[in-house]
Order: sequence, then structure tokens, then C-alpha cells
Amino acid sequence: MTDNAAIQFKNVNYSAGGTHILKDITGVFVKGKITTLVGPSGAGKTTLFKLCNGLIPPDSGEIYLHDKHIDSYDPVKLRLGVGLALQDATMIRGSVRNNLALPMELQGKQLAEEHANELMEVVDLDKQLLDQDAKEISGGQRQRLSIARTLVNNPEILLLDEITSSLDRVSKKDVENLIMKINRDYGTTIIWITHSIHQARTIGDYTWVMMDGSLMESGESGLLDNPENNAVNQFVKGEVE
Ligand SMILES: Nc1ncnc2c1ncn2[C@@H]1O[C@H](COP(=O)(O)OP(=O)(O)O)[C@@H](O)[C@H]1O
Ligand SMILES: [Mg+2]
Repeated sequence: MTDNAAIQFKNVNYSAGGTHILKDITGVFVKGKITTLVGPSGAGKTTLFKLCNGLIPPDSGEIYLHDKHIDSYDPVKLRLGVGLALQDATMIRGSVRNNLALPMELQGKQLAEEHANELMEVVDLDKQLLDQDAKEISGGQRQRLSIARTLVNNPEILLLDEITSSLDRVSKKDVENLIMKINRDYGTTIIWITHSIHQARTIGDYTWVMMDGSLMESGESGLLDNPENNAVNQFVKGEVE
């Protein structure tokens, strides 16, 4: 077990529908750092996230969270400690407050007014929005709300799956700054799947490059400037979709 690992994969394999989706993945996501995860569509990035918060179990290999085997966690606690935010920032019908309170309600609890205000402040959303219909807020606001919602349970690890893909340049920058602030202020470990090599390079401390179910290269994000592997090099230079 590596001391500074938030998540560690050891020879992890996963198949579904007759496809070998993740192939012998061994690697570490460093605690308190931002790791960006890049690779072509279908590389297995989203599947890897599902393994990280226990939504699916591996066929073989081991996954450790902090110093404990993932199987030793209570599944509910695991999902609370490892927050997941998705590209489409799905909202339930109702107000912004209803959406923010969802993770608490699922635990049969209520979200205190003070806590709601505090979360809105963290993601820099106006408290006035709490009573607005969640369908009526902008894409950028919805993505902030989605991030706030994952923060309700103070997760130690945050998994972000292409959360800025559908945002304009300004909102994208705002969300990047927000995530860097959360990482700095709370020491939250961030793993961020992105389509943008530029974003992966500028936001990441570390980067994983996945292709066709394999972890091709990993290390400090500077590796993207000069990948060792030829296929990775072609992907990074935009020659492979
Ligand atoms: N439940 C499943 N059954 C069969 N194939 C799947 C399943 N989930 C994902 N896949 C396949 O696994 C591959 C990786 O998918 P995914 O993890 O979503 O990749 P990425 O997020 O990198 O685009 C894709 O080819 C996808 O079609
Ligand atoms: Mg994906």
C-alpha cells in the first residue's frame, strides 16, 4: 500500500457484455492532489469511476481506498465519501434547494438552512437561487449546483466526469477555479475526466492516459508535453479521436 494514495488499483480487470473493458489497471490516485484522466471515447474512463465508488465490483484485482480494501467499506458510506459529478448535472424536478438537499433526503435527513447557505457560498451561487426552479437556472449554475450537491457529505474524494464539456469558455474557467479552490481549501482529492488535453495539463498535478481499457501512461501532468508511448503521443497531439 502506498502511503499517499487516496485510491490504489492493483491489476484490476473488468468485463461487461462480453467486452474486456478494463485491462490489468495498476496505479495510484495521489491523496490531496488533482489527477486528470484523459483518453479516447470508449477507453474505459467512466467505468473506472464506477469501480472507484463501488457501483460495480472488479472481476479480478484489488482496489484500496486510503488504507483499506474497498470491500471493507459499507456501500452507502463509500458513496458518501466518494462524490461523483457528471457532465449532464441531472436535476430532479423542484427547486434548487430540493436538489441540494437530495443527498441528505436519501439518508432520511434534512438539509439545514445554514448548511444550504454555506454550500451555495462555496460554489459562489446566490442564495436567492435556492427557491428558484432548478430547470430555470443556466448550464454553468447547474454544474455549480451539481458540485455543491456532491459536497453535502464532505467527500474526501471527488470524481468529476467531463463536467465542463457543455459549458462556454467563461463558465468553464469558473468551474475550474472552483474545483481548484475546493482542492486547496479542503484537501479534497480530485479525479477529473476531461476531453481537453489543455485542461488536463493546466489543472492536473498528475495525469492518467487510458486507451482501449489500458492505463498507457501516468505521472506528473507534464508527461502530456512529451509522452513516451507513440499511441499516447498521437492521441495527445490530436491525431487519434
Ligand atoms: N455495461 C456495459 N456493457 C457492455 N459494454 C459496456 C458497458 N459499459 C461500458 N461498456 C463499453 O466499455 C467501453 C468503455 O466505456 P466507458 O467506460 O464509458 O468509456 P469512456 O468513459 O472512456 O468513454 C465502451 O466500449 C463501452 O461501450
Ligand atoms: Mg465516459
